[in-house]
This record gives sequence, structure tokens and C-alpha cells, in this order.
Amino acid sequence: GVKLIIDTDPGVDDALAIALAALSPDVDLLGVTTVFGNVPVATTTRNARGLLQLCGRPDVPVAQGAERPLVRPNPEYSRNVHGEDGLSGQAGALPAPERAPDETDAVSLLLSLLEAADEPVTLAPIGPMTNIALLLAAHPGIRAKIGRIVAMGGALEFGNKTPSAEFNIWADPEAAHRVLVEESVPLVLVPLDLTHKCAVDAAWLDRLGESGAVGAALKSMTGDYLGYYRQALGFEGIVIHDAVAIAEAIKPGILATTSYPVEVDIGLGPARGTTLVDRRTPRRESSSRVVDIALDTDFDGLRSFMLDGITGGRR
Ligand code: BDR
Ligand code: CA
Repeated sequence: GVKLIIDTDPGVDDALAIALAALSPDVDLLGVTTVFGNVPVATTTRNARGLLQLCGRPDVPVAQGAERPLVRPNPEYSRNVHGEDGLSGQAGALPAPERAPDETDAVSLLLSLLEAADEPVTLAPIGPMTNIALLLAAHPGIRAKIGRIVAMGGALEFGNKTPSAEFNIWADPEAAHRVLVEESVPLVLVPLDLTHKCAVDAAWLDRLGESGAVGAALKSMTGDYLGYYRQALGFEGIVIHDAVAIAEAIKPGILATTSYPVEVDIGLGPARGTTLVDRRTPRRESSSRVVDIALDTDFDGLRSFMLDGITGGRR
């Protein structure tokens, strides 16, 4: 199976993404690192640990990472979308983790897991990219151990945090610039343009809820999030951005990608945090880094893959 490390800020869609990786057959989930983002990092760490326990995976190490972006002051969190506790008020219902808290920090855990790996590892950042930027800046040699990065982030048409910026990139644009533009590790970017088209509806959520105790707990975490998306989508459903990226991480090729030159706006103006993707035709000469951007999939097939992975997996 795919060897995978998730860097995350749970977060309702992060919760479903973690469950997908933790419960799908044939995934070797080596570790989970946490970052500030939807809520403060102490909370994302608690949530990640509780979620892995819920999934029966106390074997997976969790290490806490950055509490703020690389350069600019702390951004706003995203409590209006994910709830005060990041999980629509349901974090308190998570089981107490059996595993003692890992003493190490995120960059150290990433480094040791990568060093120990005997085959290329997929890194999946589904929050701000601060930990990944720090890792690559401090330990450039470790690049060779990363097969590819599959990141949820960015927007081509319109943003969700600002008119043009997507939340994960906006929350630490300098880190995203480092990872997306300045580095050379093969990278798949899963932007809002695709994740919105992969929204799941009430019937999908009902099937999740009826699948057993874990599914019911996960469904209960979608409460506040559903309210937010009721307005954003105009129908009863949610966008599970991060689970879409994890689907690609664990089943390479489930998303169809196209290569485009990309830049990240790190200016302090209104476009800060925007991913600028050059889709002009005919193709122009570009000195920008070319990354694979996921823009299409078999939508129903993907929704089934995510549901089956979360509900029919290891348990
Ligand atoms: C991204 O922002 C967060 O709120 C979600 O968890 C996801 O990673 C979507 O823009
Ligand atoms: Ca996230």
C-alpha cells in the first residue's frame, strides 16, 4: 500500500480525510502532524489524536507542529465554518486516546518517518503548509524520500477566504510559496475548483451515519459545517475538500490532473494568498514552477470511493 503522512488542521473535512486514510485497506499511514489553521494547533492536535482513536488507530503517531505562519502574524482561524472546537462542537465526544502524547514536534516526526522509510512516501498537507516548508528548508536532503506531495489548496476561479484566495494558502502564503513554487518535489494540487464539484449530499451523509458507530460519530461532526455549506452551495450537502486530496494520495490517478505553471501571491495587497495559475492558450514560455493541478474526476466514482474507504475499511 501507499506510504502516507498527513499534515492537518482538523477541521471537519480533515476529520473525514483522516478517517479515509486510517480506515481504507492498503494504506500505510505512517504518521499525522498537526498545524494551526481552522482552529489553534493545540486543538487540532487534540482532535487528530481523538480521531485516530475513534478509528481504532492509536498505533499512528501524532506530532504537533506550527502554531503560527512563517512570516506574518497569526491569521484568523475558521471557527465560523468548523465550530469553536473545529469539529462542530463534537470534539468532546471523541474517545480518550490510548496512546501517550508524542513528545516530538512535527518537523522531527516528519524527518524521522521519512528517514526510516524504505520506499518513497506521499506527503499530504491538508492545512496551511507551514510544517512542510520548515521541513524542506531545514532538511533539504529529505526531498529524496518524498515520492510526491498531494496538497489540498488553492483556487483558480474564486477563493473562499478572500475573493481569490483559498484558506490553506491564505493562512500561510510564504509557506505555500516555498512548497509550491520554490521546491522541486513532484506535487499535485487539489484546488477548490475541483473539491466543490465533489460535494457530498444528504444521502451520502446518511449512508455514512448508518454505517456504524464510527460513521455515526463522523456524521455528527458535520453539523455546523452543513449549516455553512447550506448557504454556500444552496443545497443540503458539504464540501469535503481534504478527503478529495486524500483519495488521490491513497489511490494515485483517481483525480485527473493537468500541468500548469503556478505562482503564489505573497504580497500584502488584496490578492495575498492567491494561487496564480497560468492557463493561457497557447501555452506561454514560463519560468514559474509547473505543478499538476487536479481539475476533473469521475465524480460519482470518487464519492463512492470516499464512502467505501471510510465505512468499509479495516473495521
Ligand atoms: C480548506 O480550508 C479548511 O478550512 C479546510 O479544512 C480545507 O483544508 C478548504 O479551503
Ligand atoms: Ca484542512
